[in-house]
Amino acid sequence: MPLLPLVHIVATGGTIAGTASSTVDTANYNAATLGADALIAALPEAGQIARIDSEQLYAYDSKDLQSADWLQLAQRLRELATQQNGPTGILVTHGTDTIEETAFFLSLTLPRKIPVVLTAAMRPATARSADGPMNLLQAIAAAADPRFAAAGPLVAANDRLWCARDVTKRHTHAPDALGGFEAAPLATAIGTRWCAPRWQACDDTQAFRAALPARLPEIWILPGYAGAPAELIDAAISKGVSGLVLALAGHGSMPTAWEPALARALDAGLVVVRASRIPSGGVAPNANYADSVRGTLASGALSPVQARILLALGLATGCDRNALQILFAQY
Ligand code: SIN
Repeated sequence: MPLLPLVHIVATGGTIAGTASSTVDTANYNAATLGADALIAALPEAGQIARIDSEQLYAYDSKDLQSADWLQLAQRLRELATQQNGPTGILVTHGTDTIEETAFFLSLTLPRKIPVVLTAAMRPATARSADGPMNLLQAIAAAADPRFAAAGPLVAANDRLWCARDVTKRHTHAPDALGGFEAAPLATAIGTRWCAPRWQACDDTQAFRAALPARLPEIWILPGYAGAPAELIDAAISKGVSGLVLALAGHGSMPTAWEPALARALDAGLVVVRASRIPSGGVAPNANYADSVRGTLASGALSPVQARILLALGLATGCDRNALQILFAQY
């Protein structure tokens, strides 16, 4: 009998590895308390899909991940993907809170050699109707299928497989929290079978896949809202950050009261991207005034957290303002 595919699990923590003292408490629990071994031991069905091995890279609540952790994770996944007789695919277990950030970062920085699938859960492992076990099995099934390599990093959750850039957390506690707004999933699962998959590349912009930068510059996201104080921008200048992503109202509308502080930020050399707090639609460059005269960039289709990652990678690899705006237009 032919050997089953080998799926290597890289565990990073999250609610999928969480435990609570009550089986019905889905709000008060400790994330990241179970190790990868315990998650797999609870899933005997996994052995019918793939051979599994695992490592515990982190045990984090994902809100605590730093950009240095993304770089270390990406480095580890690159090693696994290029190992001789290495795994067929890789599964990363993660928290739902920032999975969209890690997935987007990996989609920009990993070569597309073998499937890389991230999964998470909204309910701790001890809850009735915990979503983690089925999410894990479905993610293992996707990671075990080499045809998903071309798509780049994917997120498997609740019977759906999402391109990294299309997925976001849309609900604070419901099990179907992870999903897209306007994009369709790449595939839908019935049990552990992915039906009607599209074997396509999700995004194929290759700018950052050759090598990882040693570190990422500090970029802050500032919230735009009625009455938002301009001191937010001055605090960022004083802190010496390299760039700002402004999560503005509407189609990236800059508060008039921010203009003087914004000019100070641009004079101080910060790169400033206009993004929107609205979940879909993005922000188009404004050639007449907003961007070309003032010197800001527009986030294009990216959310504020995605724009922060693209800006950090762009600055880390020496892109100037023009190159950055081209990048934002491509993504
Ligand atoms: C986390 O993001 O690590 C905690 C929340 C979750 O996984 O749902």
